Formats: sequence, C-alpha cells, structure tokens
Amino acid sequence: MNAAEATALRSDHIPVLLNEVSKALAPKKGGRYVDGTFGAGGYTIALLEAAECMVWAIDRDPATLAKGEVIAKLFPERLHLVKGRFGDMVKLLSEQGVMSVDGIALDLGISSMQIEDRSRGFSFLRDGPLDMRMERSGRSAADVVNTMSEKDLANIILTYGEERHARRVARAIVGARQERPFSRTLRLADVIRAEVRRSHDGIDPATRTFQALRILVNDELGELERGLQNAEHLLSPGGVLAVVSFHSLEDRIVKKFIKTRSGMASKPSRHAPASVTPNQDIATFSALSRRPITPRDKEKAKNPRARSARLRIAERTSAPSLITLGGGLA
Ligand SMILES: C[S@@+](CC[C@H](N)C(=O)[O-])C[C@H]1O[C@@H](n2cnc3c(N)ncnc32)[C@H](O)[C@@H]1O
Repeated sequence: MNAAEATALRSDHIPVLLNEVSKALAPKKGGRYVDGTFGAGGYTIALLEAAECMVWAIDRDPATLAKGEVIAKLFPERLHLVKGRFGDMVKLLSEQGVMSVDGIALDLGISSMQIEDRSRGFSFLRDGPLDMRMERSGRSAADVVNTMSEKDLANIILTYGEERHARRVARAIVGARQERPFSRTLRLADVIRAEVRRSHDGIDPATRTFQALRILVNDELGELERGLQNAEHLLSPGGVLAVVSFHSLEDRIVKKFIKTRSGMASKPSRHAPASVTPNQDIATFSALSRRPITPRDKEKAKNPRARSARLRIAERTSAPSLITLGGGLA
C-alpha cells in the first residue's frame, strides 16, 4: 500500500500519539503484535508499514471491524481482524493459535467515527438515540437513565464523570423521566445543561455525565483492568505494552498497574520513605517512562482529541505472571 492510500484510509480518525506508540513497540520483521483497539486502523497500519510483521487487531464494535476489511485486504496474511474485547485477548488470540506476542497497543475510549455517527448516541451535540453501546448489545444509556435509582445515578455520575454537581444532575434526570422516559441524546444534554453552568474553560456541562454513562454502559474500567492482566499473560519477555488513556480514571489504573507489576514496593505507611527498588523476583514489567508521554503542542493544535492523551509504556520481564485471569493474584 502506498502512503496516499494509507492516509485516505485513516482520514476519518486521526490517531493520537501515533509515532510515539509505533516507536515504543518498535515492530520488527516476523514480530507479532496486538492492536487491542483497532478503530480506524491507524496504529495497525503504522505497525504493518514499519516492518514485515503480523498484527492481530481487536475491536468490540462490529461496524468498526467491518470497515477494517478493506485494510485487511491490503495486508494479506499479516493483518488478522478479531471481533471481541481486549479484556479477553488471551482467549481471542489462543483461538487463533497465538500464545505470545511482542507488543500490545491500547488506545482507549471511542473513535471519532463512533462519536460522529449520531445513530450511536455518544454525542451530546448531535441528536440520536440514547444508546452508547460499542457492541450494540446489552444495557443502553437510555436503560440506565430510565431505570437506575437516583442515588446510584448520582454515584455513577460522580465516580465515572467526576461531576461535582452529580446529585443535582441525578435529581433532574429522575424528575424529567417521570414526565416521559429518555430516548434521545439531546434531551438528556438539555436537562443536564439546565442544572450545571458551563465552566470558564468552555467545557460543555453534558460532557462529564455522558462520559460517566459511556464508561458504565461499556464497563470500560473493568475492561481496562482485564486488558492489562491479559497483556501480562500474552507478552513475551522484552515485549512492550503501550497504553494511551484520555482521562484520569483510566490513567490512574494504568499507572497503578505498571507501578505494582514493576515491583515498586508500596509504602508501609504514609510517613515512611517510598521504596523505589523494584523487586526483581516478582516484577513482570519494567516501566519505560517515569512520566506519561503527552502529545506535542503541534499535535494538540491539529487534533483536539489529543489534548488529554497520556501514553504509558512498559516492557515485559521474564518473570512468570502470578495473575489469574478474571481474578486477583494467584
Ligand atoms: C480511540 S479508538 C482507536 C483508534 C485507533 N488507534 C486508530 O488509530 O484508528 C478506540 C477503538 O477501540 C474500540 N474499543 C474500545 N474498548 C474496547 C475493548 N474493551 N475491546 C475492544 N475494542 C475496544 C472502540 O470500539 C474503538 O473503535
């Protein structure tokens, strides 16, 4: 494939921190990589173009994956599209006969294509059905706002949306649904906007509640936890994990995982000095960057989605994994 074709295929969605992720995974000839969040295929194409390697590209959204067929045809035998969740990647890959890989990239959240398609119900700017399900199955956002108790709604909006006015928003939602159930995105956005004033940074007041509902409906944080554990099992020694997150809830999980799994002892008490000596016997990862990598100003100016992005990278050691998939430590 030539550069123009690749650019045309990527045009719907501008991949965030593409060069940094590609550099971190440093694909090599014959190497095997997982792109756990295929989206428009930006990362996948970059890896396949960088070396004569193989990529297993996972996405839980069937519509997204269907579009990927065009890209798969351009890389016969080298690109394998896999429908499912990255939280199940050990199982998904083993079904394809792959037991270990050399690198895994996760670019969390949803793509521009998903936000811009009003029929998916992710956007508070375009009216659409209040859906938000990446897989188009299970409980929708409308089901949540129409049936959840006010107390639970407030908790979700506070925890997953980090919305200071969560209780007020939950009360307004419950009041409005007594008139008639919610079915459209804009009605929900209007109810929220009537309760919460726009902050001076200009962020739409509906942003945080929509984020909370999306995280809940898709169990995004649970998926992230499972994805990281699966990555530990799947990566071969020297393999690299690269995760791009977009809000503090996600970044905190990734940061904590890398810190814990790289054997950084936690402080026995608040007053004791932190030990920074990794316990080499149990460390399954070694952090490749102390601080998260963030996009340059040029990228942020070109792509507003990049503004809150944070990339964390870690290299798999040869220590065996003690994590039981689907559970805690073995
Ligand atoms: C931000 S986009 C990825 C964009 C991609 N890096 C690119 O360059 O085009 C995230 C994609 O991951 C998918 N996704 C989100 N969570 C997932 C999960 N747990 N398992 C599999 N796919 C997931 C979404 O459906 C979406 O297509």
